[in-house]
Amino acid sequence: MCGIVGFVGAEPAAPVLLDGLRHLEYRGYDSAGIAIFSPEHGLDVVKTKGRLQALADLLEGGKQLEGCLGIGHTRWATHGEPNDVNSHPHVSEDGNIAVVHNGIIENYMEIKEFLISKGIHFTSETDTEVVAQLLEYYFGKSGDIMAAVTKVLHRIEGSYALGILCSSNPDQLIAAKKASPLILGYGDGCSLIASDVTALLKYTRDVSYMDDGEVAVLSAGGIQVYNSMMEPISKEHAHIDWDISAAEKGGYEHFMFKEIMEQPAAIRKTVFPRVKEGRVVLDDLSITKEYVQSLKKIDIIACGSSYHVGMVQKYTLEQLTRLPVEVVLASEFRYCDPIVDDKTLVIVISQSGETLDTLEAMKEAKRRGARTLGIVNVVSSSIARESDDVLYTWAGPEIAVATTKAYSTQLALLDLVGLYLADLLGTVKPEDYKSAIDEILLLPSKIENVLADKETIQYYASRYFNHDSVFFIGRNLDYALGMEGSLKLKEISYIHSESYASGELKHGTISLIENGTLVVALATYSPLFDKAMSNVIEVKARGADVLALTTVSHKTSMEKIANGVITIPDTIPMLLPSLGVVPLQLLSYYIALMRGCDIDKPRNLAKSVTVE
Ligand code: M6R
Repeated sequence: MCGIVGFVGAEPAAPVLLDGLRHLEYRGYDSAGIAIFSPEHGLDVVKTKGRLQALADLLEGGKQLEGCLGIGHTRWATHGEPNDVNSHPHVSEDGNIAVVHNGIIENYMEIKEFLISKGIHFTSETDTEVVAQLLEYYFGKSGDIMAAVTKVLHRIEGSYALGILCSSNPDQLIAAKKASPLILGYGDGCSLIASDVTALLKYTRDVSYMDDGEVAVLSAGGIQVYNSMMEPISKEHAHIDWDISAAEKGGYEHFMFKEIMEQPAAIRKTVFPRVKEGRVVLDDLSITKEYVQSLKKIDIIACGSSYHVGMVQKYTLEQLTRLPVEVVLASEFRYCDPIVDDKTLVIVISQSGETLDTLEAMKEAKRRGARTLGIVNVVSSSIARESDDVLYTWAGPEIAVATTKAYSTQLALLDLVGLYLADLLGTVKPEDYKSAIDEILLLPSKIENVLADKETIQYYASRYFNHDSVFFIGRNLDYALGMEGSLKLKEISYIHSESYASGELKHGTISLIENGTLVVALATYSPLFDKAMSNVIEVKARGADVLALTTVSHKTSMEKIANGVITIPDTIPMLLPSLGVVPLQLLSYYIALMRGCDIDKPRNLAKSVTVE
């Protein structure tokens, strides 16, 4: 999704903005631009469709623009196609005000019509341009930019993180936030804004997170924040202590591959400190035994891969706690009049902690009286701050659009949560609890074994990368695992792919199986292995080419039927998806590599989805 940076200080702003935008590239974008204010030239805007490099080339790395105050933007198109005109920054008709925006102004049409009726001319198809033009309209009435900002914020509806420059305020950058993330950076003789801390780290580690309704005025000497009543407030500062190298490729060709390889370490960091003397210890959780025992059900809300984690956890949590678990797509939850109350624990899963659908669904659950538990990777993100309890997945920065290590740490952390709840409920036998803990502690080294065999996956990728349609089938945990395998493949390789519960094939989908159709059959779940075999036989009989994934102990049986077999180490059922996902991630990665795809930044996708 769109990325914003802003800078005011004593050095030229353009190189700082380009560097910041480079760190936001991973979020996904289709055009980029910057606006710089200098006393000599007023507001200069340069923007272009395409990669950031095209903008950097236009600006000769930033040398082309003078001025120590500026805003920059990477755009992920929502309103209007990706082209130069629709790129941000957008400038008011008189050239006095420039705006960058992340989010959607939902009532932009009505405001646009109003402004057109006042004789204002628009140049772009975007919703954002109305902000620049409306600011100009109100500024023209009062000559006071803060009064104009206040009026505009009252008038616009929807979501926004805004960076605003006004030539009449030549030393200041104004920022405003509602529902889209925006971070303030307190530098040495400079002040910054950014959608993501990675864009700030070169200049400062001293940051604060803007809350909805707040407005900030930045100058080289500092930042003043105002609440929605425009009263000055002081913000809590946070210190970012992770190393910028964690967000760099470190010799790997792609972030995705680096992040796949980091999974054992990420799981160790997430799990090991939370297991003490054979017990799950969740110090950061404030729920009581009485509360857990009062629960009637658990809801899981998430999007994309985080939703797939929820699908796995439906099986695991129900098994462990004997409570009904409902997994709902966040975008559906918001509008389905959900049946949740104070007897429902709502688990909200999100890597970024900024996914708008998930954030808004969580707020809806809270409004209805549910207690919320966030499973989040990005510290101090919106979901982390707004959930009643938060447990962090310590996966470190995840840069590739396709999630890998965040998915794995979410799974592992929720396994611990399941055991913790089951222990409080008395629904897990002591011997099962013990063997689960023992196996969880072995998980990172078992994943290392799977990763060590990556050449086998590479071989299968070379065999199948030319297929244009793939089916993932499985039952129970393997069904949930297939959803993630299928999403990974389609998002980075652009191969059409679907996942099905194997038992559903005969109800329609099997008509699509013909000679040579690739079916990835997931058969890791021992209790249903025989049924999985029957489904493999069924699709083979219709001509499918079957690549199976199973455990070492079932390898020999599967080899008798499937065209190819990938194995993972044996483990307890609840941990099978944690092992099984790794070869599926590698398969997608190698296939995308062989097809020449842009692996870390797949077309049309964004890392952090901050619009509805
Ligand atoms: O940051 P979140 O976990 O809330 O993101 C949810 C989805 O947008 C995300 O998982 C998406 O599906 C990934 N690109 C999948 O690889």
